[in-house]
Amino acid sequence: MGRSCLHKCKPMRVMGWLQIILGGLVILVSLLSLTRFYYAGFFLQNDDICKYLYTINDIHEGGFDAKALSDRVGEVLDMLETLQGKLESKSQELEKNKGITLNNKFLEEEIVRPLHRANVALRQIRLPKIEGNNSIVKEDPLINFFVTEEIRKYITPKENRVGKINLYGSDKVYNTIGHSCVLHKKEVEKYMDYDIGSYCDDDWNLAQKLMLNGCDPLPRRRCLTRASKVYNKPYPINESLWRLPDERNVRWGNYQCRNFDCLSSKNPKRGYSKCTGCFEMEKEKVKWVSNSSLFAEFLIIDVLKIKPGEIRIGLDYGIGTGTFAARMRENNVTIVSTALNLGAPFNEMIALRGLIPLYVTLNQRLPFFDNIMDLIHTTGFMDGWIDLLLLDFILYDWDRILRPGGLLWIDKFFCNRKDLDDYMYMFLQLRYKKHKWVISQKSKDEVYLSALLEKPPRAI
Ligand SMILES: *[C@@H]1O[C@H](CO)[C@@H](O)[C@H](O)[C@H]1NC(C)=O
Ligand SMILES: *[C@@H]1O[C@H](CO)[C@@H](O)[C@H](O)[C@H]1NC(C)=O
Ligand SMILES: *[C@@H]1O[C@H](CO)[C@@H](O)[C@H](O)[C@H]1NC(C)=O
Ligand SMILES: *[C@@H]1O[C@H](CO)[C@@H](O)[C@H](O)[C@H]1NC(C)=O
Repeated sequence: MGRSCLHKCKPMRVMGWLQIILGGLVILVSLLSLTRFYYAGFFLQNDDICKYLYTINDIHEGGFDAKALSDRVGEVLDMLETLQGKLESKSQELEKNKGITLNNKFLEEEIVRPLHRANVALRQIRLPKIEGNNSIVKEDPLINFFVTEEIRKYITPKENRVGKINLYGSDKVYNTIGHSCVLHKKEVEKYMDYDIGSYCDDDWNLAQKLMLNGCDPLPRRRCLTRASKVYNKPYPINESLWRLPDERNVRWGNYQCRNFDCLSSKNPKRGYSKCTGCFEMEKEKVKWVSNSSLFAEFLIIDVLKIKPGEIRIGLDYGIGTGTFAARMRENNVTIVSTALNLGAPFNEMIALRGLIPLYVTLNQRLPFFDNIMDLIHTTGFMDGWIDLLLLDFILYDWDRILRPGGLLWIDKFFCNRKDLDDYMYMFLQLRYKKHKWVISQKSKDEVYLSALLEKPPRAI
């Protein structure tokens, strides 16, 4: 009986399914239409209606983008209506010719895929939540948050073509943007305001300000970055390491200085305050190679002697012009130097010396994999001002990228004497092996701490 029914029953069962799908679609379309009315303010009470109608235009300021939202809803409605039409005609066709069966291709191409697309489009809509009785409108940030079309284009996940899974195993690509960008909407919109394919404004300092304020990573842009008027070929590496670069290879527009000599520590109008003296090669040349008056300074050869031949790659986390990396290069060690352009062209300088500047802020997880670095050196960046919780997150991130047996070189960290115990606890909590540990006086109230620590094995 079961067997002989199969052929007759199948169309019936298919019809049943079609009816269920159709019913679902009808409900969906009705719901969506209702939300549309809702956004137009139909269900708001008395005063609310007035408030709503009057604010709908300037709601972009702090609220959500109602127009974009309603456009999205409209799109989905159209998709569902088309689908409904197709299903209805198919259903009539089936009723007329009982012999016809539904094939997989039809189901896949005409039903499953459009439904999937509608589903995805629906999910992209971030519905605002209504809070309290003065109908403060809140919504998930980002997709509907930004009004500028280029930001929205950037943020919207990009589905792979022809619905395929990409080499990363996902069906779409998400561009990233720091969540604090929400707090700096005006600046981000200014940053993203350009004609596609034309020249960007000379606004790297706006971009850096955003990054430092947590809008990090920033969106990518589709405009052309300006360069200096002439760009002469850089000096060969045997000369570039210890020579001030050609100043014509830097765009000086956003700095107070107009050439490298002006960046000298002797010039009170040099425009930057961190790492003064870093652009004077005579001063740089003695660092880490000759005994200084400072008790807390280790020499590179002494450090490398601890692990002969083992230290090959590393990270220099600080503010500088790449001198540490230059010296290490001479010892056949490749160092990546973090750099921010705080009032002076630190990135340009490091790169023109033939070294690698890594343009990152304190905000972000380091872009390196776990257990890979032989050495992390840090100096002049995070001193006594840093919040202990922030330092904790940073330390654990360093620990993550440092390999077992790798060295953490804390170079002249300074802080108030009364805070020293807190910081010492932070540095010692990871239970690294102590190779060197020196505390020395900086001034009446301040002390230097230098340490050379080794990450233990973690075969767990
Ligand atoms: C909500 O309404 C009640 C009564 O109208 C009022 O007492 C209360 O303060 C309102 N709450 C907010 C958050 O406005
Ligand atoms: C640097 O190397 C180039 C060839 O690679 C050589 O012609 C030049 O003289 C060298 N410069 C110095 C200062 O050694
Ligand atoms: C630094 O001083 C130590 C002893 O204080 C000495 O052994 C070493 O050779 C000196 N190094 C340099 C580069 O002058
Ligand atoms: C670096 O490598 C070069 C070439 O292998 C070698 O000649 C040189 O002695 C090395 N320098 C140091 C300091 O080990």
